[in-house]
Amino acid sequence: MNLDGKAGGVRPGAMDEVRRICRGWAGAAGRCGCAEERIDFFRGALPALLARTELLAGVLEGIADGRPLPDLRLATVFENEYLLHQDPAGLFSLRLYLYASGELTFVHDHLAWGVSGSARGPLEIVRFRRTDDGADPGLARLESSERTTLQPGEIETTLPFERGIHRTGNPQAGTTWMVSVYGPPARRAVMHRFDLETGRVTPLRPPRVHKRLLAQQALQEMPGPAKSSA
Ligand SMILES: [Fe+2]
Repeated sequence: MNLDGKAGGVRPGAMDEVRRICRGWAGAAGRCGCAEERIDFFRGALPALLARTELLAGVLEGIADGRPLPDLRLATVFENEYLLHQDPAGLFSLRLYLYASGELTFVHDHLAWGVSGSARGPLEIVRFRRTDDGADPGLARLESSERTTLQPGEIETTLPFERGIHRTGNPQAGTTWMVSVYGPPARRAVMHRFDLETGRVTPLRPPRVHKRLLAQQALQEMPGPAKSSA
């Protein structure tokens, strides 16, 4: 019998074990004096989790079986993203991404540093640099600056904002399991999606935030008396 009362099938406690690992990480990360030290810590710590494919398979079984954790109702920016753990002190989050064969994200930036690696399957990372002067917030000209393919167990670091514009994905057959640790996101900032062909830059918000913003915007467009009568 598992913790949620279901019998058999699912490996019990995979998410419990993931959270136990994260609590251990939180203690060590909390003792780091700066972001650079935390990045170094997670670069050292993440490969051990990437090697635990049986544990991650247990997490996937729980997802496939509809267990309550990870909570699939949580709004995430990417459709293939699963929030495995959010550190209560906000030091980091742990996320899993599943890339189907040939699937790549759109080009984007992040609000935090990140350490990512593959637990299973190849992970392609294409990095970009801006070639424009950034004068127009709605436009960006990008050129690819680096293309790497990580094998299972290998990791890479992403920096926030313009220093980390990239896309990630799976160039081959089968599903790639990407596991990422992200630092605390910058407040009052927003991620961006970059269109390579048109140069258009689009703010990128979790669906929940986007929907709230749309509602606020709609209300602001209402005439004063009608708005106050609601
Ligand atoms: Fe990313």
